[in-house]
Amino acid sequence: MLQKIQLEALEKIMQCQNNTQLNEIKVLYLGKKGPLQEVMQQLKTLSVEEKKEVGKKVNELKSLLESTIETKRIQLNEIALQQQLENEKIDLTLEADYYEQGNLHPLIKIQTELEDIFIAMGYDVAKIGEVELDLYNFERANIPHDHPARDMQDTFYIDDEKLLRTHTTAVQMRYLEEHANNLPIQVVCPGKVYRRDDDDATHSHQFMQIEGLVVKENVKMSDLKGTLLLMAQKMFGENQKIRFRPSYFQFTEPSVEVDVSCPFCGGKGCNVCKQTGWIEILGAGMVHPKVLEMAGIDSTKYSGFAFGAGIDRIAMLRYGVEDIRHFFTNDIRFLKSFNRFD
Ligand code: PHE
Repeated sequence: MLQKIQLEALEKIMQCQNNTQLNEIKVLYLGKKGPLQEVMQQLKTLSVEEKKEVGKKVNELKSLLESTIETKRIQLNEIALQQQLENEKIDLTLEADYYEQGNLHPLIKIQTELEDIFIAMGYDVAKIGEVELDLYNFERANIPHDHPARDMQDTFYIDDEKLLRTHTTAVQMRYLEEHANNLPIQVVCPGKVYRRDDDDATHSHQFMQIEGLVVKENVKMSDLKGTLLLMAQKMFGENQKIRFRPSYFQFTEPSVEVDVSCPFCGGKGCNVCKQTGWIEILGAGMVHPKVLEMAGIDSTKYSGFAFGAGIDRIAMLRYGVEDIRHFFTNDIRFLKSFNRFD
């Protein structure tokens, strides 16, 4: 009888696949209601001698089963561990996935930097579409129909009234009109502009400008100069100098062209500045009273200054890029050379 139980129990232990099954076997054979317990119950009917002998055998069998169960448990744990290690195995020699990190386009970087400089000075930033009305691009900027100044900015017309804006001055003209009853104004307008130029190293039919406009009481030329000096120093370094040269724009009077000391040679003279020590970066001036009046602003009370800089030109100087076309041809090798953090 005990032998049969032993055989059966050992067989079952061997067949166990996991700890749960093993625990069930343990409860069955070593618990209170198993076949061994039944044998113990029957001991009552036996003689003292027989009781001793059978009792001893039952105990031996119990400890045999106990130790076999524990050995089996160790085996099962070991198998489970091996399985887990197998499942979670990683191949350290496999090459990692490589993700390219993008970075901002150099023109957008310069645009953002310029915006930040002016935001810090309390300017608003205005951006609107590139398709503009003749009215805001020319008429309101004091460039009437048939005026020769229109030739300077050979224009892509869409129809008689609409065109691709030739300068961001158009944005200023709209802003001026919208805020005529809400002065003072301090705004910069960055964006793309278009002219029917033949593309070469320094010309592109599409380029970028950022234009600034301040209108309030008592704005003076010296305010314009101070503002542009600060901008130049923030863009090209603390020691920058600027100079004004007389110029002509329809919408400003007086008008100036503004040079910065050459960022490459520090003003000593080099190839880039053609030995002059200066590089032109923008046009500017005091807003023409007629422009203020056309927008509905009293020019006897208010005055203003305006400036317009080429973002591409500033980017070329900052990064030492010799051909403006690089900015638009999207050669990935060129674009990649701009570190995302510089
Ligand atoms: N709009 C001029 C240009 O495109 C630049 C400019 C802006 C000049 C504002 C004076 C004042 O060349």
